[in-house]
Amino acid sequence: MLDAGGKRLRPAILLAISRLLGYQGGDLDVRYGAIVEMIHTASLVHDDIIDSATVRRGRATANHRWGNQLTVLLGDWLYLRAIDLALEIADIPAMQTLSFATTQMIEGEILGLTLQRTSGLTREQYLEVTRRKTAELFAAGCSLPTHFSPEFARHRRALDEYGRNIGMCFQIIDDILDIVGSLQRLGKPVFSDLREGKLTLPFILARPHLTEAERATVERIVVTGDLGGATPEGLRALLERHGAVDEARRVADEFASRAVGALATLPPGPETTALAAVPRFVLERDS
Ligand code: IPE
Ligand code: IPE
Ligand code: MG
Ligand code: MG
Repeated sequence: MLDAGGKRLRPAILLAISRLLGYQGGDLDVRYGAIVEMIHTASLVHDDIIDSATVRRGRATANHRWGNQLTVLLGDWLYLRAIDLALEIADIPAMQTLSFATTQMIEGEILGLTLQRTSGLTREQYLEVTRRKTAELFAAGCSLPTHFSPEFARHRRALDEYGRNIGMCFQIIDDILDIVGSLQRLGKPVFSDLREGKLTLPFILARPHLTEAERATVERIVVTGDLGGATPEGLRALLERHGAVDEARRVADEFASRAVGALATLPPGPETTALAAVPRFVLERDS
């Protein structure tokens, strides 16, 4: 699992923020970076069981190799190893931040499951699931460095806001890449959300514009999980026809702008410049 890597975006941002705040002389940044990445990885291990995914980070998933029973325990073990690391530091407010984000993430996965196969999913419901399952962990990763020294605390709200907006943007793009991306670049299969019964933002935005027949096709796939006669190319073309992918990108763009805006009160410098470029990287990524 360690060899499979992943982008490690959450710890990268955490380390940049830590440097921006001027943290020196300890290893809290590296430790919390590892903790956040382990929680993220644990969530993916469980998410792949939930989604019956066979490929992740370019290789066979743990559930595919070893079955669900062992993999549930592997995910649990990763969560607990992360808690062990946090306990070594024993900063209760920082642990509360982590605990809150992880609880929100699990609630987001639960909410997502209860809304699975709902063909009338609203934009509000989608954004709520997105905030919980993805954005809150980004918010936690970004605000954790403000716990490293009392003088950093005044930046907590801004960095929390920055992280949450990056996270929203990140998940919307993940959902767009599921439609327009490639297995080779992403390391995970594409066009799985619809088959998993998950209606994502492009489909939600397209819905009011669809013809009766198009709407029936999308509804059938969401409810049955079977593409039937439809093809990924056909569905992609349907979304493009209604400009729905571009419209979803614009929504992601709004969150990206809010993330950049949240940096306004932070001291200028190379780290702030780098952090201000992260939303663009997230918007333009293809892997
Ligand atoms: C995938 O996260 C799950 C989502 C929140 C969309 P990443 O895209 O950060 O996964 P890795 O860590 O790079 O594999
Ligand atoms: C993100 O949702 C999962 C978590 C935040 C736990 P997805 O189901 O879209 O993630 P991928 O596409 O499998 O990486
Ligand atoms: Mg998944
Ligand atoms: Mg996805």
